Amino acid sequence: MSVACIVVAAGRGERLGQERPKAFVEVGGRPLIWHALQAASRSARVAHVVVVAPDGYEGDPALSGADTVVPGGATRQHSVANGLAVLPPDADVVLIHDAARCLAPPSLYDDVAADVLAGHDAVVPGVAVVDTLKVVDGAGLVTATPDRTELRAVQTPQGFARTVIERAHAAAVERGDTDAPDDAALVERLGLPVHVVAGHADAFKVTRPQDLLLASTVLARRAA
Ligand code: C5P
Repeated sequence: MSVACIVVAAGRGERLGQERPKAFVEVGGRPLIWHALQAASRSARVAHVVVVAPDGYEGDPALSGADTVVPGGATRQHSVANGLAVLPPDADVVLIHDAARCLAPPSLYDDVAADVLAGHDAVVPGVAVVDTLKVVDGAGLVTATPDRTELRAVQTPQGFARTVIERAHAAAVERGDTDAPDDAALVERLGLPVHVVAGHADAFKVTRPQDLLLASTVLARRAA
């Protein structure tokens, strides 16, 4: 059984408000994608890394840790599909990771891969939700307050049996879905179970400017 990891890095990251694509914004003196590739390469389980890169960045030195680089698509789902298309033939487990979760530790990759290898065909890392969440209608009125103890904030890397994630993406194309919220959602649409393992605080997604401050603090703590 061989584990491959697709790191999607082709988003523009407009909420970060920077000129360059988010994965190439620097923290601790290195682009986010560089940090993500460091972690993937330190995972004991990952044997092959595919990066899905934004236009014009395919040859960037920050991607030197990747085995294969492919161009991105219009949506995250398209970018993942581009990565799935170039997996090596012997990869039967696939981790799919957001470059924006650049500080997810190697142990998280290992935990997710191990859970797939243990027999779960779809695995997501999840953490408890700290805010109370409300369902709100178009008029701005609260219609429900879900029980927080049943909710998880889901991270990446998400892990899959290759046959299952390929089938899930193919079914999405047939349905005309183009912008799935995450890869596990496509497996859920097949009616298949998705198993949750413990996520990690460092696997937060860099989205807004304050997330860059948190990321540099985490890096400084690691270096101390
Ligand atoms: O925008 P957001 O942070 O939710 O994107 C999640 C991940 O998907 C990021 O790492 C981003 O680079 C990637 N992405 C992509 N191709 C797109 C859109 C997003 O690879 N078209």
